Amino acid sequence: MRKQKSVLVLCLAALLLTHPTDARKAKQEVIAVETNNTVLVLLVQENGLVKTLHYGASVGNPSQFLAMSSSEEDYNSCEGLAYPATGGRFIGEPALHVKYADGTHNTELRFTGATQTRREGCVTTIVGLKDDVTKLQVNLVYDAYPAEDVIGMHVEIRNGGSKPVELHNYASSALFLDAKDYLLTHTWGAWAKEMQMEQELLGHDMKVIESRRGVQATQANNPSFLLSLNTRDFSETSGEVIAGALAWSGNYRISFERESSGRLTIVSGISPHASAWPLAAGESFTTPDMLYTWSCEGAGGASRNLHRWGRKYSVYGGGTVNPTLLNSWEGAYFNFTTETLLRMIDDATGMGLEMFVLDDGWFGNAFPRNSDNAGLGDWEVNVSKLPEGIDYVASYAHSKGLKFGIWIEPEMVNPDSELAHSHPEWVVQSPGREIYQGRNQWVLDLSNPAVEDFVYGIFDRTMQLAPNIDYIKWDCNRVIQSFGSPYLGAVQDKFYVAYVQGLYNVMRRIREKYPHVLIQCCSSGGGRVDYGSLRYCNEVWTSDDTDALQRAFIQYSQSLIYPACVMASHVSTVPNHQTGNVTPLKFRFDMACSGRLGMELQPRNLSDGERALAERCIGSYKQYRDLVFGGDLYRFASPYDSPYYGLMYVSEDRSRAVVFTYCVAYEPRTVGGKVFRLQGLDPARTYKVVEQNVDASCWWGHDKAFTGSFLMGGGFNPRLPQLYSSAVFVLEAE
Ligand code: DGJ
Repeated sequence: MRKQKSVLVLCLAALLLTHPTDARKAKQEVIAVETNNTVLVLLVQENGLVKTLHYGASVGNPSQFLAMSSSEEDYNSCEGLAYPATGGRFIGEPALHVKYADGTHNTELRFTGATQTRREGCVTTIVGLKDDVTKLQVNLVYDAYPAEDVIGMHVEIRNGGSKPVELHNYASSALFLDAKDYLLTHTWGAWAKEMQMEQELLGHDMKVIESRRGVQATQANNPSFLLSLNTRDFSETSGEVIAGALAWSGNYRISFERESSGRLTIVSGISPHASAWPLAAGESFTTPDMLYTWSCEGAGGASRNLHRWGRKYSVYGGGTVNPTLLNSWEGAYFNFTTETLLRMIDDATGMGLEMFVLDDGWFGNAFPRNSDNAGLGDWEVNVSKLPEGIDYVASYAHSKGLKFGIWIEPEMVNPDSELAHSHPEWVVQSPGREIYQGRNQWVLDLSNPAVEDFVYGIFDRTMQLAPNIDYIKWDCNRVIQSFGSPYLGAVQDKFYVAYVQGLYNVMRRIREKYPHVLIQCCSSGGGRVDYGSLRYCNEVWTSDDTDALQRAFIQYSQSLIYPACVMASHVSTVPNHQTGNVTPLKFRFDMACSGRLGMELQPRNLSDGERALAERCIGSYKQYRDLVFGGDLYRFASPYDSPYYGLMYVSEDRSRAVVFTYCVAYEPRTVGGKVFRLQGLDPARTYKVVEQNVDASCWWGHDKAFTGSFLMGGGFNPRLPQLYSSAVFVLEAE
């Protein structure tokens, strides 16, 4: 039987409708969360259940969905619930699972109302739900960014009852999709091999991407994915693609469950693993954001949407150009004196770099940090290595016109440290059990507010070591094992979540006091690459693997979700310290220049010719790097399915572009260069193409002008004849 229908369409022009906490009799309504090119359509049924009808291309007036006929069976089914909770007729993977004081587990959420508000660049829709029996209230919050086609989804859960409850699952969102095929693209990884792309067609068994590492949560799998719809092939340029990313730096879980109907529900959020969250009467919990975008321009379109959104709304200082730098780690490791550092600063200045970053090894006296087995926790300057202090080194850098940065790892402590002896209760541990070490260190318990203060104090005091410290590299070098917090006592379930909340509290305080310092988020390389930490950090240390060949694979995959402005990429020495691989210096520069360029080697070991090439590459990078930091990314050759890696960044007005091409595998070739089809240019405009950093170009078209249609249509064929051939071109519209 068809139900009597009425229409409530929340469109961009709509004003406040009903306060979400106002209980009211539900009538069949459509709620639309719209961006310029996409829409998420929710249906409020007469029985109060709220379901997802559609996420994807705009559909015109969403109220047209009300004419869709539905059977009684559809009406009672729980397929497509906007926020499925354990209980009622629902038996699938829950977004919400609550255990109540009487031991019951059932929640049935029904619509109470919806509101819509606007702020600059964002329209927020809140859909209120409530369980009438237990009085649990849930607000589904949708932040729509119309211009970027991004929707951020999170949830506020409030215990409106009179007794305490436990949240066992409390996901950020559940997205329901209806397609014929779902091709999942996601990344796996390890230390020095982060972000390895993997693709699979989703079957009917449950697919889960998750982390239980506590910290360093993204080293193995990133909390993000692309989903190509209605196709078995991955395309950069065409077809429907949804990209999703969770803004959370701790344990997470993203599940993909196909119904027997073929439809798919994606539940994403904080991992429920050992993390039941207690809510006393009247208390609330707010989940992190799950970000979604949809594009009909393939993976490239979805990536560009997220990048634009990230630069504008999420990444701290997003889109602004950050300085090139020399980092001391691979060039000096723990072995340096003031003199070593001053020489490196001189060399960095000579090559045209803009900042010197002093990495690990500068602290600890009773337990000096001369290797990774001592000193963490004791953040005073090591007087035998640096008797004149940090100020002396920083001032020297500043006197040469360089900025100065320094490394800290404030969440960690070595057992051999004064801190571990004075505050053993601050270490993550479980009573009566061994406290396992990783990289000879323990983790400090950031669920404890006293530790929050201590960690904040490390940052604050480090900033006082010299006037005008410009950059902090924040490292975090192990996972959490045998978890536990002496501070939390009997509520150990809170540990994993409270740790991340503590970390964010510290970061928030840091940003209040130090809005201008640049912060690099490092966690043994790419162990904390997520939109949660990027709210406070300007960039990430992409990987400890600095081998330019490996970086092609890592950086390609990172670019699927994260913009190039966050991607630190350094030129290191050969043989590469991680892989032993030997690559030409130009290949290393050309790779590093596609992100935030840095160097991480001992410049004294460079020959005069290598120095001259370095100077040239750094000089040319400074001319086009605004495109890397703020342009639109187009990937036109993938290292995962071809012997080439090709990408380009195009200015918003399409008047300038920089094109990077690399040969990443040997294959027998015929005469002539590889034809690449460039993207994102204006077909009608004419661009002058100039190869960078060479005397003799590898393309016959160097220094000539061509139309965008020619360059995108098959005319661009630079010769990259051998493994490690590479070329960078700057395009300027005439
Ligand atoms: C791990 C980081 O990823 C490296 O870049 C370096 O900072 C070391 N830690 C220092 O211990």
